[in-house]
Amino acid sequence: MAKRSLLVGFGGFLPERVVTNEELATRLATSDEWIKTRTGITRRHLAGPDDSATSMGAEAARRALDYAGLSADDIDVVLVATSTPDQAFPATAVRIQAALGMTHGFGFDIAAACSGFIFALATANSFIRSGQVRNALVIGSEVYSRIVDWQDRGTCVLFGDGAGAVVVSASDDESGTRGILSTHLHSDGTTGDLLYVDGAVGQPDKSGHLKMSGRDVFRHAVAKLSSSVDEALQAEGLSYADVDWLVPHQANIRIIEGVGKKLGLPAERVVVTVDRHANTSAASIPLALDEAVRDGRIQKGELVLMEALGGGLTWGSVLVRL
Ligand code: COA
Repeated sequence: MAKRSLLVGFGGFLPERVVTNEELATRLATSDEWIKTRTGITRRHLAGPDDSATSMGAEAARRALDYAGLSADDIDVVLVATSTPDQAFPATAVRIQAALGMTHGFGFDIAAACSGFIFALATANSFIRSGQVRNALVIGSEVYSRIVDWQDRGTCVLFGDGAGAVVVSASDDESGTRGILSTHLHSDGTTGDLLYVDGAVGQPDKSGHLKMSGRDVFRHAVAKLSSSVDEALQAEGLSYADVDWLVPHQANIRIIEGVGKKLGLPAERVVVTVDRHANTSAASIPLALDEAVRDGRIQKGELVLMEALGGGLTWGSVLVRL
């Protein structure tokens, strides 16, 4: 029988510098009131000159390993979800391997924008279930402060920097009920121009800035996340009432509350960090998980539904019994 993937370690890292809405309003035509009512965001952490996708991801990984009681020697694969790598290559995963002192195993990056952590976790699950990997480090690490246009009030106020990580381990308990139950991934490139970064190393003449049609992305997020939730539960023959926790991608409180309401979950069963972190893209779910596991809200054995939508468009879900 295929092994189950257990989430056994959790870690997060947020850069030191905190920037409030009020501070942004001193240099942009915006206000705390506008940002808060439209998005739920009050502040965000922004990377300092020494912070990078590699440094932040490595620190989150160290904390997750520590939580799991494992060392880098135990890890077989490092998967990093990021759309803000330090370099086009080597992959951030490989840089993090080196930062952790690993010369064994393998690592690679996954580019699925804000859905990246869901895609990376699903990939780790497949490696584990196939028997190829015993322990995986799955990391989301992002420095969107380096790709947003700080003159564009419609986008720059929405994002923050940070990293989150989980350790996923194969369970030998074949009759166990814990572990990842199902993963569902989607992408549709015909909607690629709704949320994208204008250029990259292959197109150095472009701005390199994040561009977004906010209203369209909002509309897609509500519809696609809603069907994603149904898909995840139906696949396991579960109902909304079975879900103990929703740990969603943290883009906008109105989208998060919409999915929470659909599930009939009281607000205190939905993990929210967007108010303090803003949208940290692929880092948002592992950061939220880390917070809620460490403060004792999410307990072993509870059913957790994670979902995300991002540029691509990409979207998907992971259902896990912790
Ligand atoms: N401060 C003040 N006004 C702002 C502003 C800001 N930071 N950003 C935009 N505005 C203005 C616009 O210029 C526009 O003014 P106008 O009517 O005079 O042209 C007005 O506010 C409304 O803009 P609009 O973009 O239509 O607002 P909205 O209600 O759609 O809210 C978002 C904008 C971005 C908050 C919302 O569309 C959203 O959350 N979309 C999803 C984004 C997302 O989640 N992206 C990441 C997915 S991973």
